[in-house]
Amino acid sequence: MILKAKGCQDIYGKKAKVWQYVNQIIDMVMEEYHYDYIRTPIFEASDLFHRGIGESSDIVSKETYDFKDRGNRLLTLRPEGTAGIVRSYIENKMYAEPTQPLKVYYNGTMYRYERSQAGRYREFTQFGIEVLGTSDPMADAEVISLAVYIYRLLGLKEIKVNINSLGDKNSRDNYRQALIDYFKPQIKHLCEDCQRRLEKNPLRILDCKIDAGNEILKNAPKTIDYLNEESRQHFKKVQEYLDILEIPYEVNPNIVRGLDYYNHTVFEIEAKVEGFGSQNVIGAGGRYDGLVEELGGPKTSCVGFASGLERLILALEKENIELPIEDDVEVFVMYVNDEEKKQAVYLTQELRQAGFCCETEYTSRTLKGQLKQADRLNSKYLVFLNSADLANKLVTVKDNNTKDEEKVAVADLISYLSNKMIGPHDDCCGGHGDCHCK
Ligand code: HAM
Repeated sequence: MILKAKGCQDIYGKKAKVWQYVNQIIDMVMEEYHYDYIRTPIFEASDLFHRGIGESSDIVSKETYDFKDRGNRLLTLRPEGTAGIVRSYIENKMYAEPTQPLKVYYNGTMYRYERSQAGRYREFTQFGIEVLGTSDPMADAEVISLAVYIYRLLGLKEIKVNINSLGDKNSRDNYRQALIDYFKPQIKHLCEDCQRRLEKNPLRILDCKIDAGNEILKNAPKTIDYLNEESRQHFKKVQEYLDILEIPYEVNPNIVRGLDYYNHTVFEIEAKVEGFGSQNVIGAGGRYDGLVEELGGPKTSCVGFASGLERLILALEKENIELPIEDDVEVFVMYVNDEEKKQAVYLTQELRQAGFCCETEYTSRTLKGQLKQADRLNSKYLVFLNSADLANKLVTVKDNNTKDEEKVAVADLISYLSNKMIGPHDDCCGGHGDCHCK
């Protein structure tokens, strides 16, 4: 037997319905906040990620799926969405459109060669947004508030927003130097990874998983103390807007993020669910004002976030949140002989195309077997076809809940079922044919 590759998942059955529901909520919120859907390739030139995310980041140095295609091109399966979107923004000259900022959202698979565990996979799905073309701190707050809104709409009770600021390039450079000066004399007490990070990317020492909890890390200089006036003002404004939007948050100076492109605001949103373990960051993001220029475009300020769907759904499961998922069959069409089957095939199509979720029998079960199957699928109405009734252009319809039965003319079946299921149509088409009754 061939098994799925390590770190991948099959999503099916009830779980697939949860995925679809969550995706519907995401699509709805994106429309409300006026973010347009964007779809970029799953693989890109490797160079994009090396330059975009940064050579020294864990993602690029240890986790990318790199391969050569048959034309000897070096390609990488995308480990995240932002770099591809920035590439597309530049390549398609979206910066020249008059409706800046560009507000886009995406939802797709990403690939990181990580040690797989609950909430951490090698193939995973991120939905995310990017706002390209504004430096206004109002956008930083909007991005955070959109994420929080989606989590709340789905019913997550306890989420925690941690924010920090890395400041502009100048502040970040000063901070970087302060960290090197601080860590250098004591670096031998930290892990090998941190020793390597010292010169290349000292910020990454701060969120080292091995040395987490070490006093040396705890006492390290804080970004906030190295912000210049402009950066301080930006961060203050972000907090003001978050207050206006009534988003609770905590300023957490340890949030530095694993990708090199960030400046100013960075944030992580945690699900505070019992038993969720260390993979409880369900969404994260920040500002990346230098990336468009770094990848060859004009100077453009941007901010965005991404959320792992697997982690989000795991958090919903851990909180035992029941989503309003409707997967009952509305009508089950039953038959016994071949003549009745022909009618069943036809009527099932009619009912489906009139908007009902309709099932029928595919495996020659007896009538008793079909009744059991209809119950397994939680069928609301049963339509029995028998030759004697059909000769008079009639069928028998049974309400599977009350067990009431009625003979109904085939020609009236759709309007009969619509009336039964939706009542007098007060809440839908008002009887004017804009729903099942049409
Ligand atoms: P990230 O923090 O690397 O940021 O990933 C964002 C989210 O993706 C994480 O918070 C987590 O929920 C999910 N995630 C990451 N890796 C895995 C994994 N191996 N398995 C399951 N879920 C995972 C970014 O990717 C940035 N591009 C976010 C961003 C957008 N910043 C600005 N714009």
